[in-house]
Amino acid sequence: MKVAVAGTGYVGLVTGVCLAENGHEVTCVDVDENKIKMMQEGKAPIYEPGLQELMTKNSERLKFTTDHVSAYRDAEVIFIGVGTPEKKDGSANLSYVFAVADQIADSVQNECVVVVKSTVPIGTNDRVEAAVNERCAGRVKIHVASNPEFLAQGTAVRDTLHSSRIVIGVEDDFAKDRLLQLYSWSDAPMVVTNRRSAEMIKYASNDFLALKISYINEIANLCEAIGADIKDVAKGMSYDSRIGDKFLNAGIGYGGSCFPKDTKALSWLATFNDHEIKTVKAAIEVNENQKLLPIKKARRYFNDLRGINVAVLGLTFKPGTDDLREAPSLVTVPVLIDDGAKIRAWDPVGVSNFKKQVPEGVTYCDSIEETLKGADICFIFTEWKDVLELDPGMFVKLMNNPIVVDGRNCFDVEKIASVKGLVYDSIGRAVIDTRS
Ligand code: UDX
Repeated sequence: MKVAVAGTGYVGLVTGVCLAENGHEVTCVDVDENKIKMMQEGKAPIYEPGLQELMTKNSERLKFTTDHVSAYRDAEVIFIGVGTPEKKDGSANLSYVFAVADQIADSVQNECVVVVKSTVPIGTNDRVEAAVNERCAGRVKIHVASNPEFLAQGTAVRDTLHSSRIVIGVEDDFAKDRLLQLYSWSDAPMVVTNRRSAEMIKYASNDFLALKISYINEIANLCEAIGADIKDVAKGMSYDSRIGDKFLNAGIGYGGSCFPKDTKALSWLATFNDHEIKTVKAAIEVNENQKLLPIKKARRYFNDLRGINVAVLGLTFKPGTDDLREAPSLVTVPVLIDDGAKIRAWDPVGVSNFKKQVPEGVTYCDSIEETLKGADICFIFTEWKDVLELDPGMFVKLMNNPIVVDGRNCFDVEKIASVKGLVYDSIGRAVIDTRS
């Protein structure tokens, strides 16, 4: 099938590449000329496991262009995968979605299906369909479908090729049949529903996961206060299949491009419809406080952080990505800089993005060892494999004052307890102090 994709971010590009992998002829469109040039030269503009390989493998079926007219003109399916960033009031900014919708309406020559993949507030697909058909003024019929994505960064290609489910929100058989044909290669369960339900499935899923994280984080904080261990508590909970064993990792809060934005957007949407979605509002508040936890913990050990040598391991919002959006490190490191701490940081792929947001006040190191050398306190913000595999004895060997604040519970407490001369302060577990 002839497919066009508007927007070459995580969602758009991964969707386009995976559709090409499954035999479709795909043209990806973006306004960013540098990015398009890079992709025309066969290079992936984002770090995502498997993406580069699939781009190379399917280069015959993949085109990249800034010329939207040629891309949309005779496409059978056009995906909208542009950003819906958060506005100051927490609502979603839909200006990019509607700008693309206008371009589509002006370009298409044949009856086609426009698929909104971007996460959009409930009712947006209806508005897009009205807008494109009004602009077309009967010249050609455009059907609009909602097809939210559930890919997680770091596993985006795998999540797309082997989806947990494919949700198709349609209002007519033309759109339904075309999308079922487009996805005929997939063995994922198909949930065909109306457009508003499809839009809601996306928010309800993401916000449920955010809520689950905030819940386990609150339980973790309580565990610390009462002497329980969150890892054991989560394990005990996980055998109940109604709860499951996923997303029960306590830590310093969720980040990324979805949970923070989508929780706020749903909360805003509820308010706008004279409802209050209390659980989601609570998840947001808990998450904001959780991000500050490493600083609160550090102040247990130092009244004043001025001149203190700080080692930071991990900057990205999670491992496997160079994305910094809403990463807890972006909250914590600026506070440490303001406090006058001397910061050395390590991250395998996130440094250049971090520098864009925090241009001064941090020295970057190429290795964990170099970062730890002479440090008075170490913060772990991302559970990178290199951190998980680190011998905790290295903290004692290399640091001046081996205090470790582990925001991602990277180490087993038994293992830590066997290392002499260390203070280990993690999330939802008792502080381990083996100095005496
Ligand atoms: C998420 C959803 O998983 C995905 O389905 C949706 O399409 C987009 O949003 P993503 O943001 O890429 O994907 O990452 P995810 O792996 O879900 O992690 C989000 C954040 O939650 C990270 O900061 C992670 O560290 C945190 N998290 C996750 C926890 O703190 N604890 C957990 O148990 C799981």
